[in-house]
Amino acid sequence: MNIAPDSSGAPVLFGFPEITFFLVEIGKGTMKMRNKQRKSPALNFDAGYRCSLCFILWSLVGFGLIIFFVSVKHQEDSGQTHIYFSRLPTTRELEDVEEEHFRLPPPHKVNPRAVKRRGTRKQPKVIEDYLDESSAVHAMFFPDQRTAVDPRKGGNDSMYFYPGRVWLDTDGKPIQAHGGGIMYDQKTTRFYWYGENKDGPTYQAHSKGAQRVDIIGVSCYSSKNLWSWTHEGIVLPGEPNNVTHDLHKSKVLERPKVVYNDHTGKYVMWMHVDDANYTKASVGVAVSNSPIGPFKYLYSFRPQGFESRDMTIFKDDDGTAYVFYSSRDNTELHVSPLTKDYLHITAAMKRILIRRHREAPAVFKLQGTYYMITSGCSGWAPNRALAHAANSIMGPWETLGNPSVGGNRFFRLTTFLSQSTFVLPLPDLPGTFIFLADRWNPSNLRDSRYIWLPLFIGGLADEPLDYSFGFPLWSRVSIYWHRKWRLPEGWREGYN
Ligand code: GAL
Repeated sequence: MNIAPDSSGAPVLFGFPEITFFLVEIGKGTMKMRNKQRKSPALNFDAGYRCSLCFILWSLVGFGLIIFFVSVKHQEDSGQTHIYFSRLPTTRELEDVEEEHFRLPPPHKVNPRAVKRRGTRKQPKVIEDYLDESSAVHAMFFPDQRTAVDPRKGGNDSMYFYPGRVWLDTDGKPIQAHGGGIMYDQKTTRFYWYGENKDGPTYQAHSKGAQRVDIIGVSCYSSKNLWSWTHEGIVLPGEPNNVTHDLHKSKVLERPKVVYNDHTGKYVMWMHVDDANYTKASVGVAVSNSPIGPFKYLYSFRPQGFESRDMTIFKDDDGTAYVFYSSRDNTELHVSPLTKDYLHITAAMKRILIRRHREAPAVFKLQGTYYMITSGCSGWAPNRALAHAANSIMGPWETLGNPSVGGNRFFRLTTFLSQSTFVLPLPDLPGTFIFLADRWNPSNLRDSRYIWLPLFIGGLADEPLDYSFGFPLWSRVSIYWHRKWRLPEGWREGYN
């Protein structure tokens, strides 16, 4: 036992003076009782009663201490060390809550006949206005090219992310990497951003269908600093002629993600492939020898026969990769480990977040705990994100709540008018990540914007759903709104 004397000479137990004081006081009580016993044998009953009270108290203290140590040991064994306060000096300003005050213009006057034609609204009016390219609300959140982030210009804005502005590549063209993900390549020590190239006209294939752009392919951009991106071309093109091909331009290719396989030395891309009506609901797989392609398209399938729509891939520290996909009419998510070569799924599969109706999963990990951000299912329209956590990647997954911080209520209920697609760790700043999301523009999908914001794991969860002997099991996941921000110093050292 760790007993050290404090400044007054009294022993201090486990470094907790309060516990020591409490025990000493109980001890004093026992001694007093012994004296009393000697002086007044008539009070035998009372003394016996006190003695057993004292015994009960000591037992309770002992029991409490045992539980405390078992709980700490359990958390250590399961690799759960939680950072409750992540305010590293370099990231402090990114964790400042930045309010955003804007006045939404009065709603468009709606023609009552149009309402009759359209039936009852599904979206709140303000979201309908936001989605309407001719409205003033829309213009507020899709500023034009004059404010574009341009890596060719130096100056004060260099290295600053401006969520929602047009973002140009090193050729001065708007970046086309929607629904994307980022892979860091150790061989070339560069980051690669893969995403949907939507640089074509938006149209509706059917009156009730979602707005779409014909498949152009998967674009790839590379960067050393995550701010200035060079276009590496279309690394997996759509198929212009063969209508039976999965990637024929009339079909759907969404949310491509690339992972490097250490065993085969290949870069493997997984994506959502579908027909224009989203009834095929499958995953597609492609492979390449180089991060900048060309990727060879292999096949599509439904994992274990289940529908698969929005999806992502997560590569764990031990090299095992997992596919997460929305299934069964988007009512639940499934998670499945991939085979060692990452080209197929294994037989293992777990259904998670059942009946929660979540999509757009983005998975990440910190100190043995897995986290995920998802969106609700409202097509191109934004909705409220949720954060989830799990001790095992195969579940059970718990829902922690809305991770959006700052901005204003409208922003927090719409994930800053965006939908999750990926979360990138900054290894040298544990607990610090970049949240990548799409601000979709369904009336002109090629003009959809990127919302990149700092994401932190730390602090107490708002609603700790689970307790381990009184200690909340989960830390908070927070995405902080910033109109303008840059990466903290020292962020790149962990990438080697
Ligand atoms: C969203 C999905 C997007 C795209 C869109 C089409 O729910 O996250 O990736 O499929 O629907 O409406």
